[in-house]
Amino acid sequence: MNIRQQLNDIFQAAMIAAGIPADCSPAVAPAKKAGFGDYQANGAMAAAKKVGTNPRELAAKIVDNLDKGEMIEKVEIAGPGFINIHLSEAWLGKTLAAARTDEHLNVEQVTDPQTVVLDYSAPNLAKEMHVGHLRSTIIGDALARLLEFQGHTVIRQNHMGDWGTQFGMLLAHLSDQMEKQDAEVALADLEQFYREAKIRFDEEEGFADRAREYVVKLQGGDPECLKLWKQFIDISISHSEEIYEKLNVTLTRSDVYGESRYNDDLPVLVQELLDRGIAVEDQGAVVVFLEEMADKEGNPSPMIIRKRGGGYLYATTDLAAIRYRANQLKADRILIVVDARQSLHLQQAFTAARKASFLPESVTLEHCAFGTMMGEDGKPFKTRTGGTVKLAALLDEAVERATALVAAKNPELSQEQQAEIGRVVGIGAVKYADLSKTRTNDYVFNWDSMLAFEGNTAPYLQYAYTRVRSIFRRAGIDPSALTGTIELGTDAERALAIKLNQFGEVLDQVAKDTFPHVLCTYLYDLASAYMAFYEACPVLKEGVTEEQKQSRLQLCDMVARTLSTGLGLLGIEVLEQM
Ligand code: ARG
Repeated sequence: MNIRQQLNDIFQAAMIAAGIPADCSPAVAPAKKAGFGDYQANGAMAAAKKVGTNPRELAAKIVDNLDKGEMIEKVEIAGPGFINIHLSEAWLGKTLAAARTDEHLNVEQVTDPQTVVLDYSAPNLAKEMHVGHLRSTIIGDALARLLEFQGHTVIRQNHMGDWGTQFGMLLAHLSDQMEKQDAEVALADLEQFYREAKIRFDEEEGFADRAREYVVKLQGGDPECLKLWKQFIDISISHSEEIYEKLNVTLTRSDVYGESRYNDDLPVLVQELLDRGIAVEDQGAVVVFLEEMADKEGNPSPMIIRKRGGGYLYATTDLAAIRYRANQLKADRILIVVDARQSLHLQQAFTAARKASFLPESVTLEHCAFGTMMGEDGKPFKTRTGGTVKLAALLDEAVERATALVAAKNPELSQEQQAEIGRVVGIGAVKYADLSKTRTNDYVFNWDSMLAFEGNTAPYLQYAYTRVRSIFRRAGIDPSALTGTIELGTDAERALAIKLNQFGEVLDQVAKDTFPHVLCTYLYDLASAYMAFYEACPVLKEGVTEEQKQSRLQLCDMVARTLSTGLGLLGIEVLEQM
């Protein structure tokens, strides 16, 4: 259990002992400012309102009934009834020492592990992956790693766009191309290939008709056509895999469960909804009218699940996917990491799925929405000529820029070393710049700020890690050989210890709310607390006692391990030297 929960339990017990109803929460939270203790219990005010007494008196009663145990040094009542909590130094030191020797840094495995289906990345295979899929890929992967670290079972679902009418045009073009060259060669540049097919579709006599024929053949399961389609999909997936590899993203081919996988289920699903009266025919289309999402005039929100011509939609597939994930994959929690612009679509899908009882009530459906990546001009991020930015090119540029910075900073390093540091820093910078922003907001993509060695950036944190590690190298000490207790004699040591002990509760919060920036902010605060400690508390200098040295080095070691573990959960690597 994390510290915050432990304190909450202690205060809840005190409140009950003080005769306060059990549904009143102690509302324990980390103190916002120095001088107000380490944590605060803020629940007395609300409880006093409920039972109709004076909040300060009630706070005093809670304190009288408090079992401080080993953990709490002292408490004091402040203002209208806040209770400031000071943690015991001995307890803090002991807890940290235990965390240090624990592989998992004392972050316990959850007692109620869930099966979490996590839908992320999901590029459309007709085209090259572009920046629009970067955010989903990065955010989703961080959530996957974090939930697994806590002991949940994560089932990754790469809901790739591998089906749809545009494949008619692509397959017609591909079959022509393959008279001259291999599919791999023809599809080396998907973007280019798509453009060519589109031009032919728009301009070439008879091509559009052939494209439509291909759609019909594909949907009818024509073996030749399916073979061609399969080839296209395979090559396109390999393009995505190259990106995943570069990005250090955990998705593999076995996580691909594309839209096409639901094809067979779509007619069944639509018929079932019609039979049950949940969907109705309306002007030739099949529609689910959602009263739950009615507008101000009371008109239900319409969700089309079959078009007039008989075609199925993105929405139909999502309904099928929800049902599959709940019933076949046995999800307890379903997370879909996709652009905020798809909010209405997903809200409809979620509402319709509930209406049709496609999943047990207890299963949660969550849209982890994110904003748009913007260029400096405040418009959605594009190339200078206004085209979509290919992800592969963007990542190459990140590595190039970072390598140039590293070379300027450390000319003494070999070219291979510079290249390796450049790779880790460049990719880390792109990922961290995204993850550190509140995901629901739009954000401006800026090379200079993401690659800065100062501020809340990947390079800053990676460098902080390297600096801590270099202390051990300089001293010639192996962290596993450190002994003795952790003493927190100064404010800076104490503040650092508290930060370090908060790692678990930060992870709990991110797991619950799915906002990775909370972990980024934590790591940045931790690095800052470390810098303050390092300024105030000599570690290896003369005059430091052996006990102090051992204690402070243990703190350093915990900082390094927490930074590397935390960054690792974000999918960001660290280096021993940079
Ligand atoms: N392929 C879709 C897109 O590029 C994203 C799919 C997200 N997942 C889902 N179940 N709708 O916009």
